[in-house]
Amino acid sequence: MLQSNTSYPSEYNSEVRNSTDALYANVANIIPEVEWPFHAPLIHEINKLKKERNIAILAHNYQTPEIFHCVADVVGDSLKLAYASKEVDAETIILAGVHFMAESAKLISPEKKILIPDMRAGCSLAESITAADIRLLKQKYPGVPVVTYVNTSAEVKSETDVCVTSGNALHIVESLNVPRIIFLPDEYLAKNIAKQTNVEVIYWHGKCEVHERFTPEEILSYKEQHEGLVVIAHPECSPEVVDVCDFTGSTANMSDYVKEKQPQKVLMVTECSMSDNVSVANKNVEFIRPCNLCGHMKRVTLKKIYDSIIYNQHEVTVDPQYADKARLSIERMLEIGRN
Ligand code: 13P
Ligand code: SF4
Repeated sequence: MLQSNTSYPSEYNSEVRNSTDALYANVANIIPEVEWPFHAPLIHEINKLKKERNIAILAHNYQTPEIFHCVADVVGDSLKLAYASKEVDAETIILAGVHFMAESAKLISPEKKILIPDMRAGCSLAESITAADIRLLKQKYPGVPVVTYVNTSAEVKSETDVCVTSGNALHIVESLNVPRIIFLPDEYLAKNIAKQTNVEVIYWHGKCEVHERFTPEEILSYKEQHEGLVVIAHPECSPEVVDVCDFTGSTANMSDYVKEKQPQKVLMVTECSMSDNVSVANKNVEFIRPCNLCGHMKRVTLKKIYDSIIYNQHEVTVDPQYADKARLSIERMLEIGRN
């Protein structure tokens, strides 16, 4: 049952200040000072409770800065969060991200309790395909391996040979040593991978509702307005967008690119919180910030994380009918990655 707490920690007293001042110093360039007294009491309480209750918070790169920088134990892209769910020493994981990420964590670490702060945090890619669709594709292309993006449900994964993330897709596709694959469900990611390999890629028509909105015209116009602008994009963008960008990679790859190259001005063609989060450790880089919000990611808030801890909600489980097969497809991915 959905529980909601009516009284949240709200007193910005000296104890809260002492435990959160250093955190604020880190994020002062992205969280206005007037907002901090609203976040700080929750941050203080969440950080205290998670230690007492042996809980780890894993946050995706698209989470807001007060989550990403102030309460998360591990932050990263889908791939890093998948590895972390196995490695982290905690009985309970709160996945500050979307449902498929929490489901992947449950598949990889069935012995841990996996909570998601809002069950409705979905993903347009995960919703674009069903297990029945894959069975039909397998009938149409018998014997062709099915490679599935992790942005899918566990049931879809159970029909899959191997999973990929945007961080390892090319490597995994090439490691299969086959002439042809079915790549699901992201059409743009599939086409962006196809441009980099000789493997023939049969794709589905799923799209990310955030990245499909960017256009090459928009990117070119920013390039015109800002001399020397470096543009880096997530591969869920269309191939036409990727063609006019300087670099493409997973959210972690994008973040690493900025850290290593220290461009004077950068535009991250992805979800809005990325630039905020990456700017914290890259104070000399100017971020030009057109972006699109992921409404699913933004369902997760500090208040809902607090409720997750207090009420032990919302537990993510996987139907045993397809858990074993789905787990295998993720474990194959992690294994290829390790090798
Ligand atoms: P990453 O694995 O690159 O973090 O991507 C996940 C995602 O949902 C991007 O939209
Ligand atoms: Fe899904 Fe796109 Fe949101 Fe990522 S940004 S969770 S792919 S809808």
